[in-house]
Amino acid sequence: MVVEIKKVGVIGSGQMGSGIAHVCAVAGYQVYLNDLSRDRIESGLASINGNMARQVSKGQISEEDRSAALDRLHGAENLDMLADVDLVIESAVENEQVKRKIFSQLCPVLKPEAMLATNTSSISITRLAASTDRPERFIGIHFMNPVPIMELVELVRGIATEDETFEAAKGFVARLGKTTAVAEDFPAFMVNRILLPMINEAIYTLYEGVGSVESIDTAMRLGANHPMGPLQLADFIGLDTCLSIMQVLYEGLADSKYRPCPLLVKYVEAGWLGRKTRRGFYDYRGETPVPTR
Ligand SMILES: NC(=O)c1ccc[n+]([C@@H]2O[C@H](COP(=O)([O-])OP(=O)(O)OC[C@H]3O[C@@H](n4cnc5c(N)ncnc54)[C@H](O)[C@@H]3O)[C@@H](O)[C@H]2O)c1
Repeated sequence: MVVEIKKVGVIGSGQMGSGIAHVCAVAGYQVYLNDLSRDRIESGLASINGNMARQVSKGQISEEDRSAALDRLHGAENLDMLADVDLVIESAVENEQVKRKIFSQLCPVLKPEAMLATNTSSISITRLAASTDRPERFIGIHFMNPVPIMELVELVRGIATEDETFEAAKGFVARLGKTTAVAEDFPAFMVNRILLPMINEAIYTLYEGVGSVESIDTAMRLGANHPMGPLQLADFIGLDTCLSIMQVLYEGLADSKYRPCPLLVKYVEAGWLGRKTRRGFYDYRGETPVPTR
């Protein structure tokens, strides 16, 4: 019993949630964006507005598309406003307790046939699904950052996910103009299972004094042809998210090779979370980013 998706709820209006709301609205869905406060929702909507304006200036969408998409975007200050949606994509912080609490508050509000998805980077879909009243209509829809630009979406089925849910999610991703890669439900799935240990190793390389922030990033840009260095990328992802993913890998796969670098822990403890707090491996408060080590 899976409904046609017309209305989409997005929980969390941070960098990923706002990006997801953006692409859904452009693709023609009515979107309801929720976060902890009106201010956070407003800041998510403001960044969507700015990013759509950039797409117009680059000729990727027309001004009419932008204005129609903005009309389809609604702030949802409380979860009751999601009562009528066909799909909810949870994209709050990468913390299992927070996500479970959201599902426990959300499920009684949703119509029974609504699908529930999480944009988690690493947490078990099966475990999250089991904490809801609809594991058969629960799925991982894992977008990449920045959502409007990155083409890939990982689809991850939990053990109970029904075929109809999977097919509906696949159709939804296609309508967003994105490409699906199917991953099994193992810690951090595919992209982050490969990417995050590399970033963590780059942080160890810094921690052990093998190279400075700048030399490590230059080495990987010019030596491995990566579009940005691993420390720059870590700042872009968010150091709290990087640490959470490494912890999920370390605990979930019980292998010391995934031990989060103590320097990553220190940056997170300092609240230096990367671009979103304007300081991480680089300091973004001035005109040009300056390495912090
Ligand atoms: N950053 C990335 O590159 C990336 C890529 C793919 C997936 N993800 C995943 O997307 C999710 C969000 O990451 P992000 O980078 O957008 O983080 P973020 O810190 O930018 O945003 C998280 C948002 O969740 C909100 N939030 C926290 N608790 C909430 C609650 N109870 N109800 C509603 N909103 C709540 C916060 O206020 C914040 O606005 C995480 O699960 C992360 O692992 C991140």
